[in-house]
Amino acid sequence: MIKGVIFDLDGVLVSTDEMHFKAWKMLAEELGIDKFSKEDNKKQKGVSRMESLEVVLSKGSRIYTVAEKEELAERKNNFYKELLTELNESAILPGVVECLKMLRNKGILIGIGSVSKNAPIILTKTGLMEYVDKVSCGLDITKSKPDPEVFEVAANKLGLKYEECLVVEDSFAGIVAGKAAHMKTLGVGTEYEQLRADYEAPGLEADIDWKTILES
Ligand code: BG6
Ligand code: MG
Repeated sequence: MIKGVIFDLDGVLVSTDEMHFKAWKMLAEELGIDKFSKEDNKKQKGVSRMESLEVVLSKGSRIYTVAEKEELAERKNNFYKELLTELNESAILPGVVECLKMLRNKGILIGIGSVSKNAPIILTKTGLMEYVDKVSCGLDITKSKPDPEVFEVAANKLGLKYEECLVVEDSFAGIVAGKAAHMKTLGVGTEYEQLRADYEAPGLEADIDWKTILES
């Protein structure tokens, strides 16, 4: 029986994955890297800021020191935070609010499992925080997905056993992390058919058989 659903944030509840891409593209252009594409961006889904930076730098030839990399990651985050100033409820993806309300009405606990350190501000600015019981984010963990830590922390905060949780994800790293945490997984988003999740749907607005999933 599923007692809690732990949602990834970027690309599952909100369309911020587009803003991440824009901010990385801005940094890449500053560094003279013009080969960074949407295809490369797929490798950044669900992984930490520093690991995402490596994806960008791998498209160029220069070697950077650790201190320089930290500066570059902060620079990207400043571009991203600039884009986030415009963020409001219009960034919420289709079907999300209805889905969260339906689950809460059934007594299901709602958690967030995101490696983003910006998760709390995004939840607040979009108004989604009011539907969420506990947040596990980049500020709570040391290992990013595909490590299960972010989902284990979410389940612990919710007071649930890992087997009682369902993870909803749009990234391959996230599905691997959910399975590693012994949780059921629902894959959504543009790549949902490639994620090898236990259940799949193009998005939360889709006709999802929640009864079957919650009873599993
Ligand atoms: C994840 C995104 O949710 O958060 C990644 O899918 C991103 O692309 C990661 O790198 C870290 O986000 P932030 O906001 O801490 O830089
Ligand atoms: Mg995501």
